[in-house]
Amino acid sequence: MRDLQDIETVGVVGAGTMGAGIAQVAATAGYDVVMRDIEAEFVEQGFDRIEDSLDRLAEKGEVDADERDDVLDRITGTTDLGDFSDSDLVVEAAVENMDIKRDIFSELDDEVPDDVPLATNTSTLSITTIAAATDREERIVGLHFMNPVPVMKGVEVVVGEKTSEAVVDLAHDFAEALGKETWESDDKPGFVTNRILMPWINEGIRAFDEGVATKEDIDKGMKLGTNVPMGPLELADHIGLDICLDASETLHEELGDRYKPAYLLKRKVDAGDLGKKTGKGFYEYD
Ligand code: CAA
Repeated sequence: MRDLQDIETVGVVGAGTMGAGIAQVAATAGYDVVMRDIEAEFVEQGFDRIEDSLDRLAEKGEVDADERDDVLDRITGTTDLGDFSDSDLVVEAAVENMDIKRDIFSELDDEVPDDVPLATNTSTLSITTIAAATDREERIVGLHFMNPVPVMKGVEVVVGEKTSEAVVDLAHDFAEALGKETWESDDKPGFVTNRILMPWINEGIRAFDEGVATKEDIDKGMKLGTNVPMGPLELADHIGLDICLDASETLHEELGDRYKPAYLLKRKVDAGDLGKKTGKGFYEYD
């Protein structure tokens, strides 16, 4: 089993918002990173996201020009999971779909040496079910980063039915090596964060849909009234309404009616208004 000091190269599956963010913080911490997505175009978009984020940090003087280039140099893009054969740890951040995740883990199990731990950034899906697609169930763990990864300090470590204690310890150590703080959750739907966050978001959407207040006043009320950085509607736009709906549907399926997604959330996703990423959700963005 690998310890933190054995980790030099980190494989990241997915170059979307979360995958690119994870690749960025791992490279910033000094790791060599292989970032994979299914199309070269998606990999390029991942690099663009990382460059934008590094530029924002550079503007604040948190990274200098040399450091920025070093971080980018440490990241190699690929479309081939076969390029993960030298990875000492893999973090998967592909779409939130159980069949796709199980296919990826089954392929990783073939491509990556047996003693390498494989982590998933899933926000609601079962670690145990994902792990069952491999022959290394004790080395599968949840490493749930928060969006935006370069800014958010917290990482949720999720323990599957068969995850070994050594792998749980390594997950905490690795997240801390990236400058994050961790907490631990059992493999129960939504873990700690989304189990509590999604009903809050859905209630905000229902309050808006049922005419309790304007969307601006719902967000303002929750921001000023409870001292959170974003109200439920702007946070839903920030996360992505499709992601909120997927998470809410998983919670609803597993935990029953108290987790039923708000009607308006479904209607907006059906209309293709997914939040910031499509330029329109509850609010409009340039
Ligand atoms: N990279 C680097 N820096 C970034 C960044 C990025 N991707 N995104 C934002 N920042 C920095 C900005 O440069 C800015 O820095 P200063 O304040 O030092 O100038 C700071 O963060 C604030 O940014 P903005 O002024 O642009 O404000 P914003 O409205 O765009 O967003 C925020 C700021 C950090 C997102 C803040 O509003 C926030 O913390 N919101 C709550 C986010 C949250 O709850 N995330 C968790 C969602 S749940 C989740 O992720 C899990 C899941 O499974 C769904």
